[in-house]
Amino acid sequence: MTTYARIAVVVLLACFTSGAIAQDLPVTQQCLGCICEAISSCNTTRTCSGDVCGPFRITWAYWADSGKPTVRGESTESNSAYSNCAVDTYCSALSVQGYMSKFQQDCDGNGRIDCDDFATIHKIGGYGCKGAILPEPYGERYRQCKNIVGQYKP
Ligand SMILES: *[C@@H]1O[C@H](CO)[C@@H](O)[C@H](O)[C@H]1NC(C)=O
Repeated sequence: MTTYARIAVVVLLACFTSGAIAQDLPVTQQCLGCICEAISSCNTTRTCSGDVCGPFRITWAYWADSGKPTVRGESTESNSAYSNCAVDTYCSALSVQGYMSKFQQDCDGNGRIDCDDFATIHKIGGYGCKGAILPEPYGERYRQCKNIVGQYKP
C-alpha cells in the first residue's frame, strides 16, 4: 500500500466513523486508522480468516467484550451478527470503540491514556497490557502510521 493509499484509508475511516456520537468515543479517527493499518494494512475486503474478521482482525470474544454492536439492527443473537459487524467498516470501528471504552488503561505508564495504549490493548487484549511490548511487524507498522498521521495534525 502506498502512503497516499494509507492516508486515503485513514480519511475513509474518519468519514465512516464520524458522527453525533463520535465525541463520546475514546479512540480518535487517526488512531483507529493506525490500528487498522498496523493489524491488516487496513484491508477492507469483507473477509474472515481463521478466527478473525475484517480490517481490525476482530475475534468473536473481542466483539462480545465490545458490547456486540451489529449492522442495521441485526440481533446480537444471530449467528452472523459477529462476522457481519467485524467485516463492516463502520461496525468494526464501533466494536473497537466499545472494547476500548471497557478496557482503556495506561498500559505504558506514561500518565495518560492515548493511542499507544489503544494500539497495545487492541493487539495484546484488555488484560495484561501493562508494560507489554508490541509484537512485530504490528509495532513497526503502527509507529510508521503514527508518524505519517502526525504530520497532518492541526
Ligand atoms: C486483502 O485481503 C484479501 C483477502 O485475504 C486478499 O485477497 C487481498 O489481496 C488483500 N488486499 C491487499 C491490498 O492486501
